[in-house]
Amino acid sequence: MPVFLLKSLLSVILFVLALFAMFTMFEVFGRNEKKYNIERLKKIHRANGIVYFLFFILTAYFCLNFILNTKAELSPRASFHAVFALSVVILLALKVAFVRFYKQFYNQVKIIGLLIGLITFALIGTSGGYYLLVTELGTDQRVMKALSSKKQENPAKNESKIEVRTDAASIAKGKELYESKCYFCHDAYSTKKEVGPGHKGILKNPLLPVSEKPATPENIANQLRNPYKDMPSFSYLSDEEVQDIIAFLNTL
Ligand code: HEC
Repeated sequence: MPVFLLKSLLSVILFVLALFAMFTMFEVFGRNEKKYNIERLKKIHRANGIVYFLFFILTAYFCLNFILNTKAELSPRASFHAVFALSVVILLALKVAFVRFYKQFYNQVKIIGLLIGLITFALIGTSGGYYLLVTELGTDQRVMKALSSKKQENPAKNESKIEVRTDAASIAKGKELYESKCYFCHDAYSTKKEVGPGHKGILKNPLLPVSEKPATPENIANQLRNPYKDMPSFSYLSDEEVQDIIAFLNTL
């Protein structure tokens, strides 16, 4: 299952848990004449909060893991999403502290609870909700794939021919970029597969190892912008940087 779909499903669970937490809070504090047993509701609210927190951590793990693996730069949407996520963590910690230790602040707990609910909705809206919408609930594989590889490329750029650079400065720059961005998934000095194929001789062989397209600098540039399958997109790299990476690959 693509990680985006998985995260979206986790976020639907978070959504339901947040809704239920708000419902139990309203029932505890909101009514003049109580409809349910308050002590029991409080217990349910607490258990619900713990389950929420566990799902939150699990979802955050997938998010952080993706960023760590790809070192992709955050889009504006992802940045908002991260700020919302951090706010939820801080508010949850405050809420627990007020309930347990700083009881003089107990009155604030309701408003914090409301905020956590609302920010959770914003959190989901900026990620899972967005993915589920644009992929038509995960059914549109084409969009799913384009999303996993981020931005689409302007095709004109791919057609232009790339001169492979051979000067030492470009190769050194390319090596540095390679070591910071490609190294976790590729071995430069063998053809052994790690997450992706090894890159030794990549431009000397006739075909690229996985897609079996001709091993041209254009196809490598294209792989960085619109990856063939599971590789994350590096469409944020400038043309200069792509050329430097190709200069380095050409030496392998
Ligand atoms: C998160 C892991 C990951 C990272 C990081 C990564 N790749 Fe890949 N790469 C893959 C996988 C998986 C494949 C197999 C083909 C595919 O899924 O697109 C691949 C395939 C390739 C191919 C062969 C494509 C083909 O058509 O056979 C090239 C070339 C390549 N990567 C270059 C790079 C370069 C250059 C970087 C750094 C800027 C990089 N990759 C970073 C995972 C990664």
